[in-house]
Amino acid sequence: MLVSAKEMLDKAKAGHYAVGQFNINNLEWTKSILLTAQELKSPVILGVSEGAGKYMTGFKTVAAMVKAMDEELGITVPVALHLDHGSYEGCYKCIKAGFTSIMFDGSHYPIEENVAKTTELVHVAHALGLSIEAEVGSIGGEEDGVIGAGECADPAECKMIADLGVDMLAAGIGNIHGKYPANWAGLSFETLDAIQQQTGDMPLVLHGGTGIPEDMIKKAISLGVAKINVNTECQLAFQEATRKYIEAGKDLEGKGFDPRKLLAPGAEAIKECVKTKMELFGSVGKAE
Ligand code: 13P
Repeated sequence: MLVSAKEMLDKAKAGHYAVGQFNINNLEWTKSILLTAQELKSPVILGVSEGAGKYMTGFKTVAAMVKAMDEELGITVPVALHLDHGSYEGCYKCIKAGFTSIMFDGSHYPIEENVAKTTELVHVAHALGLSIEAEVGSIGGEEDGVIGAGECADPAECKMIADLGVDMLAAGIGNIHGKYPANWAGLSFETLDAIQQQTGDMPLVLHGGTGIPEDMIKKAISLGVAKINVNTECQLAFQEATRKYIEAGKDLEGKGFDPRKLLAPGAEAIKECVKTKMELFGSVGKAE
């Protein structure tokens, strides 16, 4: 059954581990992530950007597919279906479509407007049993058309948004979507520490999980991060495995052109990527 992300994240924050949010793009992605979460007895969050939602023909299609797949695969670990970097309108569309969690990314609005829109969406989401994530400061780089400058969040603004009753808070701490440039300065643990001191038990969200070194991930978890988003890394794993299959000429052998064969190495690579992250985040066995 699909659930809100609240309980799994509160448990993660209290237990000093993080739940992975893995973004989905299609059926293969969803299946690989769900099967890995079940195998490792880990809670999981399936992230859907507005662009990916559109690609999959709309949020209603996504919600119907994820719900049915969760049931048909006999998944028993907690799974949340979450809108990633949602616009105000996108949040309402996902609520209507049957998502169990939303992110309202109001970070590009002046703080007063971010507060007003977040307040409204917190009430609507909670009345319907959904969890809600908000963002302060911005995540650098681009996530499916959402572009951020990457400035660090102001801890006082984080407290203001956290006090609105959101269930999880994404705060910019020098993290970037996509691959990190060679001259990346690293995460600002000073900012993260100051945010956690202001926001207490609030599960903090680390976006841009791709390519962050293991020691930084562990330190971030020790400073209150309870949800880590990963997208690009699964895409790169899928791409590399698919390239190998084609470069080895396997698609030209027998029925190697069958999409179920052609996409299989990529799907396996996604599973491996998700497994590695769940082990690193410490969520393995937490859904037993
Ligand atoms: P990456 O693509 O860098 O892993 O970031 C994912 C993310 O933060 C989704 O919101």
